[in-house]
Amino acid sequence: MKILITGCSSGLGFGLASHYLNQGHQVFGISRKPNDELSKHSSFRFLSVDISNLELLRKEISKLLESEESLDLVVLNAGVINGIKDLKDTSIDEIKHVMDVNVWANKVPVSYTHLTLPTKRIV
Ligand SMILES: NC(=O)c1ccc[n+]([C@@H]2O[C@H](COP(=O)([O-])OP(=O)(O)OC[C@H]3O[C@@H](n4cnc5c(N)ncnc54)[C@H](OP(=O)(O)O)[C@@H]3O)[C@@H](O)[C@H]2O)c1
Repeated sequence: MKILITGCSSGLGFGLASHYLNQGHQVFGISRKPNDELSKHSSFRFLSVDISNLELLRKEISKLLESEESLDLVVLNAGVINGIKDLKDTSIDEIKHVMDVNVWANKVPVSYTHLTLPTKRIV
């Protein structure tokens, strides 16, 4: 399978990427920081991008996937919590950042794969 995973440098995204690579699948991973363990796999391609920069994400994701004809699975996993605190103590910029990463950034791979690549499943 060909699988795109956002937030692959740690946690659940890293676990999923390792699992699929060890099963022999091809994984395209996105996060800001690389992960040395994933980079050892020849079937892993990494895109370092801050997904809150939607324009850059759109540009880079199309480069990453330009030679692909289809994807089997897209896992929209990247996200931030930023500490849970009272709304009165949270700035608009902090809320915007969380919304950009956790909500709007997901629109980019979804739109890209819908428009250009037949994609079997998006989770
Ligand atoms: N663990 C929990 O208890 C819990 C609870 C509720 C929801 N969630 C959500 O479930 C998902 C996985 O959780 P987790 O515990 O595995 O999280 P995690 O270990 O913090 O991993 C989050 C991943 O998202 C990436 N990421 C964050 N901000 C990014 C940005 N601006 N640009 C690109 N990549 C970014 C991080 O990579 P870089 O830092 O390298 O960019 C990292 O790979 C997250 O969306 C999280 O919010 C988790």
